[in-house]
Amino acid sequence: MTHPKSGENDRMQEIISLCKRRGFIFPSSEIYGGINAVWDYGPLGVEFKNNVKRAWWDAMTRMRDDIVGVDTSILMARRVWQASGHESAFTDPMVDCTNCKNRFRADQVEEMSGDPNVCPACGMRGTLTAPRQFNLMFKTYMGPIEEDAALVYLRPETAQGTYVNFQNVQTSMRKRIPFGIAQIGKSFRNEISPGNFTYRMREFEQMEMQFFIPPEDEENWYEYWRAQRWQWYLGLGMKPESIQWHEHGPDELAHYARVAVDIYYHFPFGWKEMEGVHDRTDFDLRRHAEFSGKDLTYYDDINNRRYVPFIIETAGGPDRVALAFLCDAYDEDEVNGEKRVVLRLHKKLAPVKAAVMPLSKKDELVALAHQVHDEIRPIGLTQYDETGGAIGRRYRRQDEIGTPYCVTVDFDSLEDRQVTIRERDSMTQRRAPIAELRGLLAAELA
Ligand code: GAP
Repeated sequence: MTHPKSGENDRMQEIISLCKRRGFIFPSSEIYGGINAVWDYGPLGVEFKNNVKRAWWDAMTRMRDDIVGVDTSILMARRVWQASGHESAFTDPMVDCTNCKNRFRADQVEEMSGDPNVCPACGMRGTLTAPRQFNLMFKTYMGPIEEDAALVYLRPETAQGTYVNFQNVQTSMRKRIPFGIAQIGKSFRNEISPGNFTYRMREFEQMEMQFFIPPEDEENWYEYWRAQRWQWYLGLGMKPESIQWHEHGPDELAHYARVAVDIYYHFPFGWKEMEGVHDRTDFDLRRHAEFSGKDLTYYDDINNRRYVPFIIETAGGPDRVALAFLCDAYDEDEVNGEKRVVLRLHKKLAPVKAAVMPLSKKDELVALAHQVHDEIRPIGLTQYDETGGAIGRRYRRQDEIGTPYCVTVDFDSLEDRQVTIRERDSMTQRRAPIAELRGLLAAELA
């Protein structure tokens, strides 16, 4: 049972309201009353999510020789989804309430209402229908005529775009197995029970990596990628006690997976999947070979043998992962008797790296503060703030969005060409020469 306690609900509400107030995340189409399970990222949110994606992309591609990246299209031939099994099997069991007409995922009713026979919306007992399978793929039509022949799906996972390009990538990049292909991009699922803010959306992004291996190395690479993905979260400051493994039981496995494990995060609304590592065997390439009639085997010229590669997949989503980092970073403490909200985000993930503030609005200070700000712009997104009253209040505003450094220009700065650097977490302050500031901050943020 993962019923949120009221304190946990409050925590989620505080995070949602912070996201709205400070320009991280807004409801989509809000002025028209919103659209269910679709969210927009504001100026700070887009920076933050881009930082999550960049950290993943760097770890997966730039820091390694054995993984390359692609960016494939959302619309693909319908045959792709017939081959992959999604057209027939990418379904969730759905129940309807005959009283209030709401629909729910059958496997989530108990979690939502506390009883598998009670409707989570109207609370009536015995009004839920028997489960039936509902396909989660969004349909649209290619070209001007809406007919079955023109039907295409919005992709529900990025993985298939990678698989159908396996040979293009392998030959153009002259890659030898084992090697991987990483991709970040939009996916769409017509979720029956979306919710919990950006946790389960109908339009979202995925960051997925497909690692192609010889069949006999399945176990080793599966273990290897489990360990790598776990470490990635810890390396970006996620608390070890916030994550745990969840092995998929036979009834949880996706149609393509032989074994799978999730990294669960302890969200305010319970322990939930954040990312999965899947052993997809040779299922996908075999099916694409069968349906396309193309030979998708790999020739191993060292051992002089030909085989269909097996695939270990790591599959996460930047929206869900960003939400987990936000929840993990959210903290409240007390400074001078006042509540301080602080996002203790890892420096690599923080949307704003430093904020420059003149102590007063006096012309000389403002001019120097602008110079200092221009000087440090190359370190990442920075802000200039001469409003907002007392310096303490301006520090708090930056704490709330996770800015690691505040740089204050005061009257002494005019004489000694030094500024005060104040740190978000320790709240300690130190003086540093303006001439060295950019290098110093860049080194600390690296
Ligand atoms: N290619 C395998 C695959 O798609 P998945 O477990 O269905 O596996 C992978 O999805 C990841 O994508 C999830 O762990 C989650 O981070 C993200 N994701 C999936 N559905 C989502 C949704 N409705 N909203 C936000 N993120 C989602």
